[in-house]
Amino acid sequence: MAYAIVAERPGGSEVLRRIEIDPPDPGDGQVLVRQTAIGVNFIDIYIRSGSYPWPVEKDLTLGCEGAGIVEAVGPGVQGFQVGERVAYTVPNGAYATHRNVPSSMLLHLPDSVSDEQASASMLKGLTAHYLLNDSYPVQCGDTVLFHAAAGGVGLLAGQWLAARGAHAIGTAGSPEKCALAQRNGYAETIDYRREDFVSRVRELTDGEGVQAVYDSVGKDTLKGSLECLKTFGTLVSFGQSSGAPDDFRISDLARGSLRLQRPTLFHYAASRNWLEQASKDLFSAISDGTLTINVSVTMPLQEAKQAHEDLAGRRTTGSTVLIP
Ligand SMILES: NC(=O)c1ccc[n+]([C@@H]2O[C@H](COP(=O)([O-])OP(=O)(O)OC[C@H]3O[C@@H](n4cnc5c(N)ncnc54)[C@H](OP(=O)(O)O)[C@@H]3O)[C@@H](O)[C@H]2O)c1
Repeated sequence: MAYAIVAERPGGSEVLRRIEIDPPDPGDGQVLVRQTAIGVNFIDIYIRSGSYPWPVEKDLTLGCEGAGIVEAVGPGVQGFQVGERVAYTVPNGAYATHRNVPSSMLLHLPDSVSDEQASASMLKGLTAHYLLNDSYPVQCGDTVLFHAAAGGVGLLAGQWLAARGAHAIGTAGSPEKCALAQRNGYAETIDYRREDFVSRVRELTDGEGVQAVYDSVGKDTLKGSLECLKTFGTLVSFGQSSGAPDDFRISDLARGSLRLQRPTLFHYAASRNWLEQASKDLFSAISDGTLTINVSVTMPLQEAKQAHEDLAGRRTTGSTVLIP
């Protein structure tokens, strides 16, 4: 039986419900994927709750990354055949047994990457890729701060930072999360629910500060993140899990001639060249062991509501994967 998990309108996790669907016929340039694994991301919560723009009037299928098997190809599609293993990250539509994906956003999966690994890392891993290569290109020997280090993006970033020879400081919300982050590349961790992370970063860097801060927590951390930067440092504000920062002023950057970026993966992924190169790097890093994909929870797709509550409630580490 084909089904999807949809939200009728913006709201709490209770708006998520299951509906039966017919697998859609692929349109021009589309590929119908029978999904085997679907990643859960914090962006799904922003969209469901209405803190990001609501893209349709009703029955929005959430979910932005997944993997599966090509079931049919639409007119004009080249390079994909029925039966091939594929993965993708696109805005919305993933919480379903079957879905159409534009072929321009689809990637072939190598044998060395499982469907579960791909579904847990297409959005999160490609995000870590652009953060460390484009937003602030990390060099060997740099010291950087990464918030929510034990989360989905955080654990991947830590491993990639260590592989690059950076000195990564990570924040996380419990001693257990800090220990996990340390096992995933962070040289130092700070439990920011118990310690003032700004003074701890100053202490760890002999008062100098860090070259870059990657901040996806937003409201609770953004001001402090600016204080952790050394002169000419870069703040990459790429999320707001604690809420939107409401008291930021451009003049806050003047304290150290600081740079600020507010990036979005889908702007990078819109370039097919970038998508292919970054995915190739991601799949190679998984295959050669540079990156371990921490899937901490797999649960049936119909339990998406529980997955949302656990992620929003800070009860997860690494990635959560839904199985149709
Ligand atoms: N801009 C982009 O292109 C892009 C792409 C992907 C992801 N993101 C952002 O990156 C972040 C990480 O995404 P993810 O899916 O991997 O999620 P995640 O990091 O696994 O989960 C979010 C984490 O944020 C921390 N957090 C701090 N304050 C929180 C609060 N008040 N409520 C809930 N969580 C809080 C929690 O970790 P602790 O308990 O350790 O604090 C929580 O586990 C999200 O903000 C997401 O929107 C942005």
